[in-house]
Amino acid sequence: MEFEEIQKRIAVIRDNPVKGFSDEDMAKIRKKIADKSPKSKPLADELRSLIPGGTQHQMCLKDPYAVTMKRALGTRMWDVDNNEYIDYLMSAGACILGHNYPLFREEIIKVLNDLPPDLYWNCEWENKAIKMVQKHVPSIERMMYFQSGTEADMAALRIARVFTGKDKIIKFGGSYHGWSDQLNYDIHIPFSGAMESDGIPRGCYKDTVSLPPNDLEALEENLKKWSAKRSGVAAVIVEPLGAESGALPIPPGFHKTVRELCDQYDVLYIFDEVVTGFRLDLGGAQNYYNVKPDLTIFGKIITQGYPSAGAIGGRADVMGVVEGGIDVSGKKASVSGTIRGNPLSVAATYWGIKIIEEQNVIEKAGKAGDDLVKKLNSLFESHNRPYFAYNYKSIIHYETFSPLCMDIRDMDNIPKAIKRKELVDNIATIMMSEGVITKYGNRAFTCMQHTPEDNDKFIEAMDVALKMIPKY
Ligand SMILES: Cc1ncc(COP(=O)(O)O)c(C=O)c1O
Repeated sequence: MEFEEIQKRIAVIRDNPVKGFSDEDMAKIRKKIADKSPKSKPLADELRSLIPGGTQHQMCLKDPYAVTMKRALGTRMWDVDNNEYIDYLMSAGACILGHNYPLFREEIIKVLNDLPPDLYWNCEWENKAIKMVQKHVPSIERMMYFQSGTEADMAALRIARVFTGKDKIIKFGGSYHGWSDQLNYDIHIPFSGAMESDGIPRGCYKDTVSLPPNDLEALEENLKKWSAKRSGVAAVIVEPLGAESGALPIPPGFHKTVRELCDQYDVLYIFDEVVTGFRLDLGGAQNYYNVKPDLTIFGKIITQGYPSAGAIGGRADVMGVVEGGIDVSGKKASVSGTIRGNPLSVAATYWGIKIIEEQNVIEKAGKAGDDLVKKLNSLFESHNRPYFAYNYKSIIHYETFSPLCMDIRDMDNIPKAIKRKELVDNIATIMMSEGVITKYGNRAFTCMQHTPEDNDKFIEAMDVALKMIPKY
């Protein structure tokens, strides 16, 4: 779906009053989940006392409690009560092969027969992995691993600052680049500023400039404004599809303009490809949009869900600052981490990309995404709702109550956005009760193994939810 069409349809959803699910209906749904997962209940209660919040991950559904899984294979997961789920969360997008794909697992086990999961020393799989990435993503001249996307994003800021000798980092509202102090700002909902977390000293945001989504005029203004100052802009960092993996999509030509502005003001352009890398395209979003960033962040699919899922790569001269000024002025970006670049992670990169390449994985997962979106749009239409779905291959968005469309600069919209988010969460709970796991109830990831029949089950589960939403 084109950018303009998405904007138009979001505006309709925004301007429609929302009516949610009744307490009675939600109570029935919660009872249904509880009745079929009695063994999960005490385990979840125990974990609630052992883990703050009761789950390690925020995308684990906790309504009424998080079920405990005991097995996962392909598109399926099974809980301790033997309930089967079709998974459209796919480890928050990290799995595109499907869970525990046998061929992949066997190759990794072979590596582990020779090498421990961590070695703290070079191994040949590093050469193979990085050359494999370079083959598909030509902007990657040099690359290094971290434990997570968050860490790789942190490293990117430091590297960019050392290389350019400048301090400011520009991001766009709503975009997520991990939870480090400087980047945990204006995430998820544009204009939310520091709302997301306490415990971050305000000084940490001093050099983080967050602009309204897609505001290229503001970008140019800021680049100009800071260029005359010593603390000028080191880098512009983007989620290449737009904030939240394209929930707030970018308009056509966006990257070309940003690239030109970065060149004009001598600023680095950083692509955060944690979600898009090896999912949207083997060459990443940069190949999809035909733009060459200076630095690229990888996560998730870089290790197919195996630890540690973070890496940064890019221009040889820029990355060169990590080794202490050989290529530049003698300044050094210090980075570290005990298990980064371990044999398990690098072998997972190599084998993951090799399988993606040989088995046309991106096309297969994308075809499943196209099929799901087509079916969702027909379903929404048949219910006579303004809701709609769109996708970037295997990255699927379906807009129902669309909390992100609320402009929270108007304070009255904050409780409205919270209400809309609750309703989206309710959709996730209803679909879970039908055996379908989604990302928050408004997004999905397909893998190469999702079938049209799986998608039909997704549609049946969504149909159950839609029938519970009152008509206006
Ligand atoms: C675009 C983007 N950047 C960075 C991150 C952070 O990666 P991690 O969760 O591995 O720290 C995420 C996580 O979802 C992401 O979507």
